[in-house]
Amino acid sequence: MSTINEMLAVNKLWAEEQVQADPDYFIRAAQTQEPEVLWIGCADSRVGPDKLIGLPMGSIFVHRNVANIFASNDLNSLAVLEFAIDQLHIPNIIVCGHYGCSGVRVAMTHSGIQPVDLWLDQVRFIYQRNQAELSKLDQQQRWNRLAELNVEAQVHNICRNTIVREAWKRGQAVNIIGMIYDIHDGLLKQLGLEFSSPAPHLGR
Ligand code: CO
Repeated sequence: MSTINEMLAVNKLWAEEQVQADPDYFIRAAQTQEPEVLWIGCADSRVGPDKLIGLPMGSIFVHRNVANIFASNDLNSLAVLEFAIDQLHIPNIIVCGHYGCSGVRVAMTHSGIQPVDLWLDQVRFIYQRNQAELSKLDQQQRWNRLAELNVEAQVHNICRNTIVREAWKRGQAVNIIGMIYDIHDGLLKQLGLEFSSPAPHLGR
């Protein structure tokens, strides 16, 4: 386990190395940010986006929470989306779920009234909506599949959102992509979920 002093020492070393390699690095970084991606992912410590997609600092605008939920009644999610689209004009939104997600497992196996239970009700509803498909699978497959269905639901929530709708209406490029990360092999997988204009089945 690293101590805070060790973390600060590593930070100091890192900052020095950046300046040695590129003296203007922090001058440029402090001036502006032009991220290419808004990343909506799980808070799980194993799925940090910078490492996964190898983009340099300043490229990813990040929003993470338990089980990568984009809820249209969540002020935090909405503020992130609005800032990303209206201020930063980010062209790509990636919703990334992951296999082995504890949040998804809890939603499948447990209900209650603690904050995390209430938050995960949103995944529980997806589970209930897809009972017919999920009940045919064994426990492990069901856990994986619900993680995928959760990504799909969150992508759809974003596509239906007024902030995105308005951006599309004025011709601003916004691509929304759903992916899943496999914590067992480190690979990202696309889920055939990609929208860059209103989809008829998501309501015009
Ligand atoms: Co997770």
